[in-house]
Amino acid sequence: MATQSPPSNDADSGAERPIFHEGAFRYPPGLQRNLPLYLFRRFFRPGNPILLFEHLVRTYGPVSHYKLGGSHILFINDPELIREILVNQASSFIKERTQHRMKILLGQGLITSEGEFHMRQRRIAAPAFHRQRIQNYAAIMVERATAMRTNWQPGQQFDMAAAMMELTLEVVAQTLFATDVTREIRQINDEVNVIMRLYNYLIALPKAESYLRWPIPGLIRFRKARARLDAVVYRMIAERRAANEDRGDLLSMLMAGRDDGENTGGGMSDRQLRDEIITIFLAGYETVANALTWTWYLLSGNPAAAERMGQEIDRVLQGRPATIEDLPRLRYTEMVFAESMRLYPPAWAMGRQSTQSVELGPYRLPAGTYFFFSQYILQRSEEYYPDPLRFDPERFTPEQKAARPRFAYFPFGGGGRQCIGEAFAWMEGVLILATLAQRRRFRMVPGQQVDVQPKITLRPKYPMWMVAEESRSYRDGP
Ligand code: HEM
Repeated sequence: MATQSPPSNDADSGAERPIFHEGAFRYPPGLQRNLPLYLFRRFFRPGNPILLFEHLVRTYGPVSHYKLGGSHILFINDPELIREILVNQASSFIKERTQHRMKILLGQGLITSEGEFHMRQRRIAAPAFHRQRIQNYAAIMVERATAMRTNWQPGQQFDMAAAMMELTLEVVAQTLFATDVTREIRQINDEVNVIMRLYNYLIALPKAESYLRWPIPGLIRFRKARARLDAVVYRMIAERRAANEDRGDLLSMLMAGRDDGENTGGGMSDRQLRDEIITIFLAGYETVANALTWTWYLLSGNPAAAERMGQEIDRVLQGRPATIEDLPRLRYTEMVFAESMRLYPPAWAMGRQSTQSVELGPYRLPAGTYFFFSQYILQRSEEYYPDPLRFDPERFTPEQKAARPRFAYFPFGGGGRQCIGEAFAWMEGVLILATLAQRRRFRMVPGQQVDVQPKITLRPKYPMWMVAEESRSYRDGP
């Protein structure tokens, strides 16, 4: 499934513009116009922002430029230049302005904070994500997934997208916050859905933060959903404070961590805790749920790969629950998950802003320039992935991986702000695939519409109805 092309009567199509100079600066080719309305139409009309990026790459190549108001914006589709921004010259860039409006939901948590403050918060949270610690989470992941599989009778239809959201939400709550949110799962999911529906419109509005209080129905719904989500989180904090015990989970680490800002009893304020918890909740469940949903979708369209993965799982597990020790032998399952995140990366685009003038390839850009790059676009590039729309897990053999530049595949970002939950996500993804596909295959109910919906994460636009079937290889015996 490809996203639709921009209209052909576009005044910019083919209007190539060479490198241009402005004072001491050299800009890449790009859009002639400087019209917010034009960009607004491209970016935020009910279509999707991926269209603009595809258009830029197709028309101007791996580095392109446009202006919005007084701001210079570069779209980068080159692995080496992405490495320059995220790694080699990382100290010349911040996330701050590109994430500005995410703060209306996430506040000042790990994703949206910057500098010294961010480094301190990351140090506090890091132990919860160390390889050794996350191994303890494996049993919970498998146990929750087994309960879900047991509930699905062969022949039963269900919405895989909703199921994966519920499952990953339970996993994050129980592993990182030792909290059972089973009762609130539906409510949390509903609030997040409301927020996501309105989110693109909110971030499209300049200064959305300032009129969030206006009595407009969409904004009222957004505020209510956010308040209900906050209530769940504040309750969690209050219960843990009252219990006054260290359960060794992320919540305990956050509560024990010192914060020099506003203080309650020497640790972080409730407000700061709320921001960190909401950030990790949303970053930790939505992303993995989307990755898994797209994986089941791709497997349903590629029965040979599904069969090969299922056989690997049935051979390795022999009918028993998966454990952490099985992971090295579930290689094909991991390759399937990797290939799925190539085609449908949950974090589909990223941005940075320069804090000083920077040299990038032949270009020289002033401080304050915005840089965007998209996993979705680059990971579908013919140059690094021949026949890019074909689902082929073999692209992730060690040899094939080594033959590509590091940043031709970056679903978890890179450099100092690389995803803190990456190892957690790989483990959870593979264990959930292995548990659910044990003795089961999933098939899309025919006749459904499938499309992407690029919000903060790359969500499926419609429910994904699937049928569970008992696997033939299991019925027939090994
Ligand atoms: C398939 C699953 C996931 C994907 C694709 C993903 C992707 C990403 C990406 C691309 C970034 C970097 C953003 C940037 O630099 O602008 C990021 C950061 C982050 N992710 Fe993930 N993530 C996933 C799972 C998780 C999980 C499971 C957690 C936690 C339980 C998590 C927590 C975070 C946090 C806290 C950050 C901010 C890190 C920092 O800036 O220090 N993510 N993620």
